[in-house]
Amino acid sequence: MAVTPLLIGMPEMRQSSLVVVANRLPINDNVALDGACEWRRSPGGLVSALHPLLRHTPATWVGWAGGTGPAPTLPDVDGVRMHTVPLSSEDLRDHYEGFANATLWPIYHDAVEQPEHHRRWWDAYQRVNQRFAEATAQVAEQGAVVWVQDYHLQLVPGLLRALRPDLRIGFFLHVPFPPPELFMQLPRRAELLHGMLGADLVGFQRAQAAHNFAQLVTKVLGLPATDRRIAVEDRIVRIGAFPVSIDTAEMAALADRPEVADRARRLRHDLGSPEQVILSVDRMDYTKGIEQRLKAYSELLEGGHVKVRDTVLVQVAVPSRERVGQYQILRDRVEREVGRINGEFGRVGEPAIHYLTQPFDRTELAALYRIADVMAVTPLRDGMNLVAKEYVAARVDDAGALLLSEFAGAAAELSQAYLVNPHDLEGLKQGLLAALRAEPADVRARMQAMRAYLREHDIRAWARSYLSTLDQSGLLLTRLGG
Ligand code: ADP
Ligand code: G6P
Repeated sequence: MAVTPLLIGMPEMRQSSLVVVANRLPINDNVALDGACEWRRSPGGLVSALHPLLRHTPATWVGWAGGTGPAPTLPDVDGVRMHTVPLSSEDLRDHYEGFANATLWPIYHDAVEQPEHHRRWWDAYQRVNQRFAEATAQVAEQGAVVWVQDYHLQLVPGLLRALRPDLRIGFFLHVPFPPPELFMQLPRRAELLHGMLGADLVGFQRAQAAHNFAQLVTKVLGLPATDRRIAVEDRIVRIGAFPVSIDTAEMAALADRPEVADRARRLRHDLGSPEQVILSVDRMDYTKGIEQRLKAYSELLEGGHVKVRDTVLVQVAVPSRERVGQYQILRDRVEREVGRINGEFGRVGEPAIHYLTQPFDRTELAALYRIADVMAVTPLRDGMNLVAKEYVAARVDDAGALLLSEFAGAAAELSQAYLVNPHDLEGLKQGLLAALRAEPADVRARMQAMRAYLREHDIRAWARSYLSTLDQSGLLLTRLGG
């Protein structure tokens, strides 16, 4: 598609004047069977949001390339300079798998799994955050805008400000920010809040999260705070909600391509030309409600409300954080349950569930979205959920029903979806049936409204809104052509 640089595409803008800092780089190394190293886009919402945004923008992305040992040197990706930060195997275990994904991730997602606390993990978190701050301080030019992303790097704003007070620093949290009762469990709660307050602007997905943060800052640090501003020594830190989005036009254009339509037809045929296809696409994560969804589907089959011959479920679940115990347990349980359901309800050549764990390219994902009569997005808690937005953007035919959890950030915006509470098994079953049996006119009206919303509220609108708040002087946006 045509390059429509967001911000952007201003040749005079140097790569070191806009620096994005995220634990993960937008590309991942995958060692092929022949031992060669191939690079591909890493699955996950943060990369899906930022990668299309920065493409062809003079910027630097500071992040981890996915392995251990010395950081590889990477070429620019679509004009963005990749600055790699190395992680040792201890850092991987204690920072990424430990503090980030076994302490913070569960606490920030309603503790749907038990968070773990280890002092060694905190040491690693500090050490890795310091390394990211130093790497950023090295690459950012005088007065640059630095945009720090997500829960892995909450100390970076504070550490970076100490190193480089000349920088304009933003922080954005892609995941939910929990209510005070949960956050207060964290042994290092004060340090984490202090770290975030090193930013000039702290952004969240939802207004409730900004409210939780303001309450905590007052409760833990004794600072005067509203849901918009916090006074920290001689500075004002702004806070607010900036719901992240997708490149709506790009997904719509992709889904509209003739080869995607052909692929969609072939996929439907390969699935046995069922009357209805239900699709779910998740990282294999306990926050995504995969087990609850399988149980609901299994009970619908058992009750005879859904017949394998007429309806199939396609569950894409790409493995994630595979060395973390809770993720291993989840994968085992999901695979056992898929096996049980297929064994009990499937027929020769007609499985009840098509279960796929591969990463797909965007074309294949778009084709899958196009055949989904019902897209079931039912996380127990999710900061946003970009899969829901991608599905809507891909339905250029205005067909397809989105079944969406009330506990996904996306529900606040996509209110025309069929909303369900995934903790309520009966409600989930009724929601699935309602979406399967909905009148085409109703489905169409809802989809049209959601598509119109996403055309306006796309990833560019998100970046514009965040960056114009961060850089109130307007300097950045002027330079970026915004
Ligand atoms: P999270 O960030 O928690 O993974 P999101 O729904 O916000 O959840 O984002 C997931 C992103 O990863 C989406 O852009 C989706 O298209 C992508 N993705 C999920 N599964 C796959 C897969 N099997 N192959 C490729 N991309 C995937
Ligand atoms: C979520 C997080 C991201 C993370 C992604 C994939 O979207 O908010 O920060 O990159 O999941 O997880 P991973 O652990 O593979 O980076």
